[in-house]
Amino acid sequence: MIDQGNLLIKNCSEIVTCSGFSAKKGKEMSDLKVIPNGALVIEGGIIKAVGKSKEISERFNGESYEVIDASGKSVLPGFVDSHTHFVFGGYRAEEFCWRLNGISYMDIMQRGGGILNTVKATRAASKKELFQEGLKRLDSMLSFGVTTVEGKSGYGLDCETEIKQLEVMEELDRTHPISIVKTFLGAHVLPEEYNKGKEDQFIDDIIIKVLPIVVERKLAEFCDVFCEKNVFSIEQSRRLLLEAKKRGMKVKLHADEIVPFGGAELAAELGAVSADHLLKASEKGIEKISQAGVIATLLPGTAFSLKEPYPKARTMIEKECAVALASDMNPGSCYTESIPLIFALATIYMDMTVEETVSALTINGAAALNREKTIGSIDVGKQGDIIILEFPSYHYIPYHLGVSCVEKVIKKGRIVFDKERKEQKYVRR
Ligand code: NIG
Ligand code: FE
Repeated sequence: MIDQGNLLIKNCSEIVTCSGFSAKKGKEMSDLKVIPNGALVIEGGIIKAVGKSKEISERFNGESYEVIDASGKSVLPGFVDSHTHFVFGGYRAEEFCWRLNGISYMDIMQRGGGILNTVKATRAASKKELFQEGLKRLDSMLSFGVTTVEGKSGYGLDCETEIKQLEVMEELDRTHPISIVKTFLGAHVLPEEYNKGKEDQFIDDIIIKVLPIVVERKLAEFCDVFCEKNVFSIEQSRRLLLEAKKRGMKVKLHADEIVPFGGAELAAELGAVSADHLLKASEKGIEKISQAGVIATLLPGTAFSLKEPYPKARTMIEKECAVALASDMNPGSCYTESIPLIFALATIYMDMTVEETVSALTINGAAALNREKTIGSIDVGKQGDIIILEFPSYHYIPYHLGVSCVEKVIKKGRIVFDKERKEQKYVRR
């Protein structure tokens, strides 16, 4: 555990609190509850007070705290990247170039490339190698202001490697300041040991042989499945996720990414915490997740990288969905940790407002990980996970195209990244 910090951040040009303890739905996403000339206090890693600078300096004596003068700087909650596959072996740069030449993601996958390519490399990699690579990727995420990240297994597809991936994430969580929320994605694709058509048997094997270990050893909080044509059917996905729920896990789905498939409808039926991708989700599916309170997690980096049309964020927001945004960082469909890229795509191509985008990357990202009560906003009682920008307003985030405006990252009240420091920019636990 990180030492718990006592910190006073004063004279902030604004504090973008994103205040709230539940997901923001539809129009609520536009209300960021900004405090101009703000200050905040963190004690023992937890936010103790937030308000106008003048009021806070009257109430709190600077001598008991490390003090940051944030004059001319905007302060926000740390970003929550709620969908990634950041622990993997090997790279697929060649496949990326094939896609640039017009071969589709699914074609590459059906020829035994794609996810299976990464499965081979991940099985071959040692825990140490996966750990070292994971650490570098987390450092990169931290520099973009991410303070909590979700990570999925799914590049093992056998019991041993699935557990290896989850254990590496556990170790990274103990080592790196970014908090890691683990998801079991054992049903990512049919592994080579199973002939095509044996999907049902593979799902049975996961249920009987792998899921009980994951649950018993508390290796993951969520269970996810790639519910897609030619991958796992609605029925297979339902069977696995119901079993996971029965064993006390929360569920998520890769839903309606490549073709309209009914994944959103299934997410609503199962009371999933989130339905992710949704590029091809039907109007009916969108209505159902809205009614069921399932978070719509959109991954515009993947649509961009696959040259697919973007998910219909405006329709979702009009239908009162809670929309989250995430990177989907993975070695195939979207190899990026860049929050500024996701910000640019959401605002410029998906017509989300800057305010909606901030909500989607903070409080709604937290809700997509079932952590809306503890992170995702600057509220008294929440964890002191904060970012300080180099600029006076959050409007600079999309305006400074593709470049990170994050100057400092604070995790549980301690400065863990500082762009201005020449040495020791990153602080480990
Ligand atoms: O979210 N769609 C399935 N899974 C990942 C891609 C994984 C890969 O290509 O390695 C996704 O896009
Ligand atoms: Fe994904």
